[in-house]
Amino acid sequence: MSLLELKQVGYQVGETPILQGIDLTIDAGEWVTLSGPSGGGKSTLVRIIASLLTRTSGDLRFAGQSIDDYDPIAYRRRVSYSFQQPTLFGETVRDNLQFPYQIRQFPFDQQRAVAALEYVGLTASDLDKAVVDLSGGQRQRVALLRNVMIYPEVLILDEVTAGLDAENKAFVWSMIRHFNGDDGITVIAITHDQTEIAAAQRLVTLVNGRIVAGGAQ
Ligand SMILES: Nc1ncnc2c1ncn2[C@@H]1O[C@H](COP(=O)(O)OP(=O)(O)OP(=O)(O)O)[C@@H](O)[C@H]1O
Ligand SMILES: [Mg+2]
Repeated sequence: MSLLELKQVGYQVGETPILQGIDLTIDAGEWVTLSGPSGGGKSTLVRIIASLLTRTSGDLRFAGQSIDDYDPIAYRRRVSYSFQQPTLFGETVRDNLQFPYQIRQFPFDQQRAVAALEYVGLTASDLDKAVVDLSGGQRQRVALLRNVMIYPEVLILDEVTAGLDAENKAFVWSMIRHFNGDDGITVIAITHDQTEIAAAQRLVTLVNGRIVAGGAQ
């Protein structure tokens, strides 16, 4: 059984089809790279997978069960979506990393937070740093960490490295490789970056709302 199974998924706004006949299966632990021309429907597709939008036709199953049967809030904790433009909130880095624990009423795991920060080239002292004082690349790293403080099963990354310099890109990718390779988190990453496309383990290409390559395994 695949972790995610999309059968003939479509999305229409009014009379305009945005996605049509999407057949896609993704196994647990896979790393799928999603690419294609601008406006092809990539963000729409991953937002449907993340339960931020609802398909207008077809079936979407997660862990063998229709997405319609899940509580959306609980589902979004298992399938996390990272925006291109990260929004940090609160005053400090700590506020952001604590947030996933607070919403679940779990005690904050500071040791894990520090280990995670160190993994992406930040330090324990950055926990109390004001978010307004972080660079763009550091913000991106903290926003991603926030999404994985409590492990999701699927990490969806919508052009998270766009606009980052080479050093920050390398940090972000090493972090994602760690989540995928060591922790077995399934990754769906949208990118326009030719280097990332060339390195893809599995490349799915979406053009004009249809998968033109990589949908079947
Ligand atoms: N709510 C909506 N109403 C009308 N059109 C929409 C809506 N949402 C998305 N679209 C259109 O659907 C198409 C696909 O958009 P989407 O954001 O999924 O593309 P994308 O592949 O992520 O593009 P990019 O690479 O530029 O991020 C675009 O033409 C967009 O204008
Ligand atoms: Mg997009």
